[in-house]
Amino acid sequence: MNSLHITETILRDANQSLVATRLSFDQFAPILDKLDKVGYYSLECWGGATFDSCIRYLNEDPWDRLKKIKLVVKNTPLQMLLRGQNILGYKHYPDDCVKEFIKASVYHGIDIIRIFDALNDYRNIKVALEETKKQGAHAQGTIVYTVSPIHNIENYVKLAKQLEDMGSDSICIKDMAGLLMPKTSFDLIKNIKENVKIPVYLHSHSTNGLAEMSYLKAVEAGINGIDCAISSFAGGTSQPATETLHYALTKSGYTTNLNGTLLKETNDFFKPIREDFIKSGILNPKVLSPQPEGLIYQIPGGMLSNMISQLKEQNSLNKLEEVLEEVPKVRKDLGYPPLVTPMSQMVGTQATINILTGEKYKMLLKEVKSYCKGEYGRAPGEINQTLLKKALGNEKPITSRYADTLKPIFEKTKNDIKNITTNNEDILTYLSFPEIGEQFLRKKLYSPSPEQLREKTKTGVV
Ligand code: CO
Repeated sequence: MNSLHITETILRDANQSLVATRLSFDQFAPILDKLDKVGYYSLECWGGATFDSCIRYLNEDPWDRLKKIKLVVKNTPLQMLLRGQNILGYKHYPDDCVKEFIKASVYHGIDIIRIFDALNDYRNIKVALEETKKQGAHAQGTIVYTVSPIHNIENYVKLAKQLEDMGSDSICIKDMAGLLMPKTSFDLIKNIKENVKIPVYLHSHSTNGLAEMSYLKAVEAGINGIDCAISSFAGGTSQPATETLHYALTKSGYTTNLNGTLLKETNDFFKPIREDFIKSGILNPKVLSPQPEGLIYQIPGGMLSNMISQLKEQNSLNKLEEVLEEVPKVRKDLGYPPLVTPMSQMVGTQATINILTGEKYKMLLKEVKSYCKGEYGRAPGEINQTLLKKALGNEKPITSRYADTLKPIFEKTKNDIKNITTNNEDILTYLSFPEIGEQFLRKKLYSPSPEQLREKTKTGVV
C-alpha cells in the first residue's frame, strides 16, 4: 500500500500532552479553516481531557467548542477519544449515559470515535461501539499496548480479531507510553494486518524517542495510518512531527495527501502560541526531550511526575527509587494492567502507599479494592491471591460486565437538575463531572449571552 492516512492531534493529544490541555478555542480558531484544507485523514479535536479542561480551567462549553469547530471544519472528519464505559470520566457509567453521550457527540459533529478500555476488556467498549455505528459514525476499536510477561503479539492479534468481530470499522493500536520498539512495531502490525481486513492505525508518543522509528516500521509493515502533531507541538511527550513524517514518507514512495505549503503555514501559526506557553511556564521544555527512563521503569511520563509530586508533598522524595522499584511489583500483583488512566494513577499511588507505610497493602486504596472486585473489568492476568483475599473480604467478585449492575440515571439526573438546566448536553456535562460541572453550569446560567450584553450596552444598563 502506498497511500497513508495522517491524523493531526494538535487540538487534542498534542494539546493534552504538552500544555495540559490549556489551548483555548479562541487561540486556535483562526487556523481551523486551514487545518481543514491540509488534507488530513482526520482531525483529533475532542474527548480525552479536552472536556474536563474546558469546564475546569477555560470556562468554555465543550459542546460549543465542538459545534464551532464543525462550523469551519466541513471536510476533514472530526475525531474524538472516548474511554468506553467511563465516557470521559474515571468511573463506569450505566449504558443509557454512554448512549446519550455518543448520540450528542455525533449529532454535533464527531465523525470518528476512538474507543478504548484501560484493561482491553471489550465488554466495556461494546455499548459505545454499537451506539457509534447506530448514530452513523466510524467506530474505531482500540488495543491498549503495553509490555509485560503476559502480553505478546499473539494476544494482540486475538484482540484485533475480537474488535473486527464486534463490528469495529477500524483498529487503533494505542501506545500511550511510547514503549513500542521498532522491530516489535513491524511484527505486531504485520501479524495484525494478516489477520484482519479492517484498516489499522498506530498512535504513539515520542516520550522515549522511539515513535518515529516505530512509525516507519509500521508503515513498512502495511499500517493504514498514523497520528502526528504539527511540529511546533510535536516530539517529547507528544506525537512525532507531521511535517517530518510527511517529507520522510513522501521521499520513500508513499503518498500522504498533505499539502506541504499549508503545513508550513499551520506551523507558523502555532509557533508564537507555543512561545507564549513556554513563557507562561505551562509548557516545560523538559518534556520535549526524550526521557528514556520510561523504558527502564516502563511507566508513562505523566505517571512519573505524579509520583514525584506525591512524594514531595509527603517530604519523602528520597524514597523515589524505592517507589519506582515497587511499581512493577504492584502491577504484577494486579495482573499486569496497562499503565493508562485510570490504572496508572492506581498502581502509582498504591506503590507509593506501600513504601510510605513500610508494609505491602497495609493500607489498600479504595480504587484497588474496586479493581479486585471486578468493577473495572477483567484483569489481563491473575491477581495475587493474598491481595485478592484482603480486598474482597467475604464479598464475591463480579465476573459479569460491571455496567450491567448499574441502573439508568440519565432521566433521573435530568429531573434532579431541572432548576439549573433542561438542555441534554448540559446534563451530560454535569454527569461527566458532577462537581465542577454544576459550578460551570451555574456560571453559564447567570452570565449574560453576547446578545444580552449587546442589548444592555445599547440601553446603557450594563
Ligand atoms: Co495519546
